[in-house]
Amino acid sequence: MNSAQPCWHVERSGNFDDADTPQNMPTIPALSGEAERRYYYWLARRFSGKGAIVEIGPWLGASTAYIAAGIRDSGLPAKVDVFDRFLWRVGAGWESKEVGTRISGESFLDEFKANLGALMDFVDVHQGGINKILWERGPVELLFLDAPKRTPEISRVLTTFGSSMIPGQSVMVWQDFVHFPSYAIPASLSRLWDVIEPVHVVVPGSTVGLKVKQQWSNTQVSEEALDLHQWTPDEIDSVWEQWMSILPEKYRPLFRCGSVMFLHDIGKTQLARERLQGLFDLDDRIVNKKWEHLAKSSLLTRYPILFQEFYRRQGRLEEFYRRYNVENSLTKRIKRGIRHRIGQLSQALKGRT
Ligand SMILES: C[S@@+](CC[C@H](N)C(=O)[O-])C[C@H]1O[C@@H](n2cnc3c(N)ncnc32)[C@H](O)[C@@H]1O
Repeated sequence: MNSAQPCWHVERSGNFDDADTPQNMPTIPALSGEAERRYYYWLARRFSGKGAIVEIGPWLGASTAYIAAGIRDSGLPAKVDVFDRFLWRVGAGWESKEVGTRISGESFLDEFKANLGALMDFVDVHQGGINKILWERGPVELLFLDAPKRTPEISRVLTTFGSSMIPGQSVMVWQDFVHFPSYAIPASLSRLWDVIEPVHVVVPGSTVGLKVKQQWSNTQVSEEALDLHQWTPDEIDSVWEQWMSILPEKYRPLFRCGSVMFLHDIGKTQLARERLQGLFDLDDRIVNKKWEHLAKSSLLTRYPILFQEFYRRQGRLEEFYRRYNVENSLTKRIKRGIRHRIGQLSQALKGRT
C-alpha cells in the first residue's frame, strides 16, 4: 500500500535555542514545550511571505505568541490565521494546576486574547471546529497543527489545505507526531511519503516539520484512504521503522509504543501485548515515565490490556485494578456528565442575555 521506502535528509534536529530567540515573551500556560515554541518562532521569523501562516489548535496562545513574535521580527506585513473552537472540554487533558478546573463548553477566547496582549496585532482569530474550516486565502507557507490527532480531523485538514501548499516551500508542523497515543498522525502522513519530506525534528519535544514537495490530491487523504483499520502488522512495522530513522535514538522505543497501540486498535491485542513486553524489557526511563503518566488518563480504560502489562511489570497490579475501577466508575462518569451539562446550560443562558 505504501510506495518504496523513501530516502530522507533531515535539515535540522535539536532544541532551536538560537541567539535570536525572543526575550520577554508572555508567560502563558502551554501544552507545547519550550523547544517546540522556539522552533515555531524560528520558522515564522524566516518565512518568505509567499503564503499565509496558519495555526490550528492554539489553545491559550502559548504557541501562537511565538509564531506572532516571529512574524513581528520578520518585518513582513503578515498575521497568523488561528483556528480553534476556543471552548473548554472536560476530559481533554488541558486542565492542570496552572489553569485549574473548567466547565465544558465555556469559552477561553477572551483569555487567549488577553494572553497574547500586543502580539494580537499579528493574529487573525477564527472560532469554530476543524470540520467548519473554509480556506479561501490562497497559498499557505506554514501550517502549524496541534488539534487534529485522529483520522477524521487529519483527513479534514489535509483536504482543506492540500491545494494551498506551495511545492518546495510549504512546511507542515505536526505537534504530537512522536506522542504515541496520537499514532494516527505518523500513520496518516506515511500515505504522503512521495510528496512530503521530514526536515525538522524538535528535541526535546514531539514535533516534526515536513516540507511539501508536491501538492497531494483529496483522494490521497480521504477518510477512506487514511482508514487505520486497513493496515496489516507488517505494514505498521515497516512504516514505523522508516519514521524512526529520523528520530533521535532515545525517542525510538517511545515512538514504537505508537505501533503497539495501533496493533491493539486493529484487533491484534496479543501481538500488541508481546511487543509491549519487549519494549518494557528495555527498561527505558522515558518509556516508563510516559506510561506512568498516561495511566492517570482515560487511556487506562481504553487500553486495559496494555496498562495491565505495565503495572504487572512493576509489581503493582493491585494499583492497576484500583485505578481501573476508579476511572471506570459510575460516579466519575456521572460527575463528568454533570459538569458537561452545567457547561451547556451556562452557554445557553449566556446566549439569552
Ligand atoms: C493540545 S491543545 C493546543 C496547545 C497549544 N498549541 C499550546 O502550545 O499550548 C489543542 C487545541 O486544539 C483545539 N481543538 C481540538 N480539536 C478541535 C477541533 N476538532 N476543532 C477545533 N479546535 C480543536 C482545542 O480547543 C485546543 O485549544
